Amino acid sequence: RRRTAVLRREAVLATVPVAVAALLAAAGPAAAGTTGGAGAGDPYFPLAGNGGYHVGHYGLTLRYDTGTRHLDGKAVLTARATQKLTRFDLDLKGLKVTSVTVDRTPATFKRGGQELVVTPRHALRAGQDFRVTVAYHGTPKPVTDPDGSADGWIPTDDGAFVAGEPQGAMTWFPANNHPKDKSAYDFTITVPKGRTAVANGVLLGQRTTGGRTTFHWRETQPMAAYLATATVGKFKVERYTTAGGIQVYNAVDAREATAAAPVLKKLPSVLAWESKLFGPYPFRAAGAIVDHAPGVGYALETQTRPVYDSAPDTSTLVHESAHQWFGDSVSLTSWKDIWLNEGFATYAEWLYSEQHGGDSAQKSFDRLYARPAGDGLWAYPPADPGSGENIFGTPVYARGAMALHELREAVGDKDFFRILRAWASAHRGGHGTTAQFERLAERTSGKQLDGLFHTWLYTQGKPGRA
Ligand code: ARG
Ligand code: ZN
Repeated sequence: RRRTAVLRREAVLATVPVAVAALLAAAGPAAAGTTGGAGAGDPYFPLAGNGGYHVGHYGLTLRYDTGTRHLDGKAVLTARATQKLTRFDLDLKGLKVTSVTVDRTPATFKRGGQELVVTPRHALRAGQDFRVTVAYHGTPKPVTDPDGSADGWIPTDDGAFVAGEPQGAMTWFPANNHPKDKSAYDFTITVPKGRTAVANGVLLGQRTTGGRTTFHWRETQPMAAYLATATVGKFKVERYTTAGGIQVYNAVDAREATAAAPVLKKLPSVLAWESKLFGPYPFRAAGAIVDHAPGVGYALETQTRPVYDSAPDTSTLVHESAHQWFGDSVSLTSWKDIWLNEGFATYAEWLYSEQHGGDSAQKSFDRLYARPAGDGLWAYPPADPGSGENIFGTPVYARGAMALHELREAVGDKDFFRILRAWASAHRGGHGTTAQFERLAERTSGKQLDGLFHTWLYTQGKPGRA
């Protein structure tokens, strides 16, 4: 969730299409049929992700020196070719690659923009399982997004705030960097003694020797690369297991501890409340990373354990927690569908308020609806934001939530909540598209909802009263 308005960078946008075209051309003709694509086919981020393979598991071994900001990394990707591959790409931006092997045999590689192009000694057959090992190091730098915000590995005064939506995973590990591809992860992260490295899933162990501590984290549930974190800082750690058996690990920067404590105390009840509404919590682990990262301006729903740039308020906690169902468990196939994440998480905030003595969802809707036709809220439709510059804009969050409220009004509470639960369960651990959501809503309610979705999701400008 965003706290601050971000700058618009027309200059960045203006130059991107040219660079992308050049890189896509450099990647060679797809017609050759044996080179993996340089992108996953996302119109907003054409070079994000790659074609020709699926990554089942990432084994990331990292060592971060918080003083020099130097990162040493080794990534072992266990993958399966989905076509014959004489060559394939990974996404990696910055950093120096020192070696690449495919199935233990040295491979040739070259860099071009965010593409790490790997040519294995022997071509991979369609369906073949293979293992890529990349050794790399350097000083990671965040990536600047089309809207002017930054994501990826963002250094802080005592470590790094690590949040990769939409592009930043590639700033710290070689990835198939698109939510279409979901994978299991192991993280082995070494940091100076006294610092804590927090990633996703469950902490398997930690060991201090020679002035350094190594943390081993494991996420077994499928996870999109942008939801991976390896946030490093001086943190106070709190661990417990909820009544429902979820393992909670909270890491909090001392400067945020007083403000964070009363909110983090609500995490088990927020997750229990959301489980009642959305169905079972999709993961085994939970928690929060409350960093002190002035200048970041947002929190991210990093899988199992959201990362906050400062102490969150209750709404933000509810929002990032709701993303565990909507966005993390049920993932996007295209960034254009981002309202499926942000509209839903925003609507969860409205529902929480409604059921906890605050404003009703209707009141939240009405307050927004009162905005004049020229307001930025109506600048573009939530399910068609037009470009990567707009994916975190108010129309996606607020008008996306308004679309859900209109759906609720149309089908009634009983069917509305059945739709939300059916959505979370039918696509659990996988993917969902806006078209699939529309069909599910129609099937579940038995109503024709074309007009409603057309108006609220796809039509530019302020919708008239029905
Ligand atoms: N998904 C996050 C949230 O709404 C926001 C991420 C914003 N990222 C960015 N690069 N501005 O919870
Ligand atoms: Zn969000």
